[in-house]
Amino acid sequence: MAILRIATLGHPVLRRVADPIPPDQIRSPAVQQLIADMRETMADYDGVGLAAPQVHQSIRLVILEQSGQEMVLINPEITFLTSTAVRSFEGCLSVPEMRAAVDRCAQVRVQALDEQGQPLDFMASDFDAIVVQHECDHLDGVLYVDRCDTRTLAFLPNYRRYGPLDPDFQPSEE
Ligand code: NI
Repeated sequence: MAILRIATLGHPVLRRVADPIPPDQIRSPAVQQLIADMRETMADYDGVGLAAPQVHQSIRLVILEQSGQEMVLINPEITFLTSTAVRSFEGCLSVPEMRAAVDRCAQVRVQALDEQGQPLDFMASDFDAIVVQHECDHLDGVLYVDRCDTRTLAFLPNYRRYGPLDPDFQPSEE
């Protein structure tokens, strides 16, 4: 196993639309090794999700936590189930040391294949839905900074020091 290098903002691989994995290749040594390495990498960075493009592999594979359980999603499809949005402050290993507010759909349906090629079909709400949408965006070349309220962007030390910025806050002119 190996800890993989993370592609950061500006690397073209993060902006590509990733290729589907043919189902008959899911159990191949190459894909299984990548899954094992991504697992180790995500744990090392203490992340809750990692998409293959973030480790320079432009294929539709993500590893993420759902309700504290790790899952592998291959060729995932997301369906929005509500018009209700949920706002949270997101970060990304590919956009180091930053946070910003992003509004996401509060409940989604996820259809995918697991690491054995078996079909998955489940609902995700709130934090789980946020994680799924963030990771699956990576497969389409989309980063959270594309979707965030840019007025809330903060470097991590400032975020920790001052807390989440209120986008409606008006600085006084004194
Ligand atoms: Ni990310």
